[in-house]
Order: sequence, then C-alpha cells, then structure tokens
Amino acid sequence: MGTAYLNGQYLPLEEARISPLDRGFLYGDGVYEVVHAYRGFPFRLEAHVSRLARSLGELRIEADPGVLRAIVPELLRRDSLGAGESLIYLQVTRGAAPKRQHAFPPPGTAPTVFAFAWAFTPLPEWYNPGVRLVTLPDDRWARCDIKTTALIANVMGHQRANEAGGHEGIFIRDGAVTEGTLSNVWAVFGGEVRTAPLSNLILPGVKRAVVLECCRNAGIPVREEPILAHELPAAEEVFVTSTVHDVAPASQVDGRKMPAGHPVTDRIRALFRQAVTDEARD
Ligand code: PDD
Repeated sequence: MGTAYLNGQYLPLEEARISPLDRGFLYGDGVYEVVHAYRGFPFRLEAHVSRLARSLGELRIEADPGVLRAIVPELLRRDSLGAGESLIYLQVTRGAAPKRQHAFPPPGTAPTVFAFAWAFTPLPEWYNPGVRLVTLPDDRWARCDIKTTALIANVMGHQRANEAGGHEGIFIRDGAVTEGTLSNVWAVFGGEVRTAPLSNLILPGVKRAVVLECCRNAGIPVREEPILAHELPAAEEVFVTSTVHDVAPASQVDGRKMPAGHPVTDRIRALFRQAVTDEARD
C-alpha cells in the first residue's frame, strides 16, 4: 500500500484513521475528485480544482480546494508514480461532529481531507471491442452536478449493469440519457456528436469538457442536446468519457451490437491523447 494524505499529514495508507463520527461515514456528507496523471503529469488539474471549489460551495463545506494543487504532485512523488498512468482520489467531508445530528456540526469543526494515489492500467476490453452499456432508470437525486461521495444510486446502478453482463450503466430520465454511473455519455447521429447539456442532472465531466474542446477545434460537428432513449438504436456510435477511462467506445447497448467500426470515436480518442501529450509538454 502507498501513501495517504490525511488532514495535513502524509502517512502510510494502512495507518490512516478517521472517526466513525465523520459525517462522510454517517451521511455521505462530502465531495470528491478523481484526477488522472499520465507519466506523472496530472491532467487538467485546474479544472478539478474549480469543480471541487464548486462542489464545496454548493454543499457549504468550508475547505480550501487549492489543496489539490499541492497534494496531487506530492502523492505522485512519494509513491514514485512518474511512469505510466495513475489516479489520484481526494475527498473532503464536513468532518467529525461530537454526535450524530443532521444539522451541520458546530462552527469551527474541521473538514476531513483524505487523498491517495495508485498506479492504473486501463482495461483493454473497454477500448477493444468496447464497453457493453446497459440502460437504467435514473433514480438519483436532482443535484447530480455536485460531485458528492453519496454515490449509492450510482453504486446500485453500476452493479445492476455488471450483473446484466455490462461494463457500465447509463441512466435514463424522462426519456433522455443523462449520463453513466461513472461517465458521461455521447452518441453519433449522421456524423454529428451529441451529449446531454449541462444541468443539475449531470456531472460536468472534466473529460466531457476536453472532448467538446477537441471536437470544436477539429471541426467535428458536436451538439449539447439530449440523446433520447428511443434514438439509441439509430446511433452510429456511442461512447463514454470519464477521468478514469478517457474515451471508450460502446460495443453493445442493452445487448444490441453496435457497428464494429467507430471512426468518429477513434478520431476523438486520438485527439484526446494528443491533448494529453500537449498538456504534458507545455
Ligand atoms: N466518475 N458522471 C458521473 C456520474 C461520474 O461519476 C463521472 C466520473 C463522470 C465523468 O466526469 P470526469 O470526466 O470529470 O471524470 C460523469 C469518477 C471518475 C468516479 O467516480 O470514479
């Protein structure tokens, strides 16, 4: 096991301890970020800092999102994660209160800040032949734009998708695809790329923003408009994006095979890899 960051200290992960009265444990009262580093370079770190700031603000947790800037490189350094790919997880909770009560703990209660990093090898089957997606009813709360650790609906959905033989579940709300249990969802119709518009119903994915940028710079037609569930069978390509899995083509949706080739997804994936290389060089 590697190093943990906990409340201002670096220590072996197996020695990190938090109180059972921590509100993250009792209520899922916290927020998190996952950052992807390529050869030791954390990708779009500032975008993760901004999203963390927004999540903290929306939940009124008083903590400095800027800690990500120092903790991420330090964990990569301490755990010698300068080669290959790695992931860094950081969560901030509302801290440990003297007793269990729904209302916020007394002013001055310190938030709990925890982070760790690990080497990551992408799963080849996510890219070739691609992910099997399973549609699910979106039974989450109405603030999916906040990256909260309260992920039980995502956990149940992901498990359901796995048990149905899929790699990822995609949520359907009011007849439209919102997002995946851990990813944003895209589809290609007539050569045009489409993804759900930003709203309270989806997470503003960091990789989503990068893919939009890649498409716009390369002149690939793209629209932020709902993908209706009934349109899915007519999609030429479907793909998902996330910090963990980058850009992954779908090989099946609800057991229906997608066409074997996915030229638009391949092109976007190549543009995405180029964006990673460019950022590391700057
Ligand atoms: N999941 N939508 C949901 C519900 C997510 O949980 C995630 C990320 C995304 C993609 O966002 P980004 O591109 O910023 O990773 C969309 C993370 C990686 C996780 O929970 O592990």
